Amino acid sequence: MALYSDKVMDHFTNPRNVGIIEDADGIGEVGNAVCGDIMKIYLKIDKESGIISDVKFKTFGCGSAIASSSMATEMIKGKPLSQALELTNKAVAEALDGLPAHKMHCSVLAEEAIRAAIKDYYDKNGIEYDRSKFPEPHEEEHGETEE
Ligand code: FES
Repeated sequence: MALYSDKVMDHFTNPRNVGIIEDADGIGEVGNAVCGDIMKIYLKIDKESGIISDVKFKTFGCGSAIASSSMATEMIKGKPLSQALELTNKAVAEALDGLPAHKMHCSVLAEEAIRAAIKDYYDKNGIEYDRSKFPEPHEEEHGETEE
């Protein structure tokens, strides 16, 4: 069996939503200290409806991180913030038809970057939020040493 699914290869070679949003409403940047990969997510949010009207990403990282960013941005585009907050790395990996176990941490970056961007939006606009939904990222939990 191939190490990577067709979907992973598709989103890696033809990533959706690559780029930056100059006047983004929320920006989230996270990294993994072990592999050194970095992911940045830009959100444009319709303030009335709380819908993510646009999303872009820049990922300096491995193929799985790029595929995860691409898939995750597709999954939250046009969706309410509340739904984007519920997106888990497992859902992203499942939508990609799976990732090898030692590459699951790459999908964690996507979940964390989206959360960080939403938190940035809340903070910039003085919007109250449930802080328990925004735990500090734990590098050691998704490092390369994880099996
Ligand atoms: Fe670090 Fe994939 S995000 S190896």
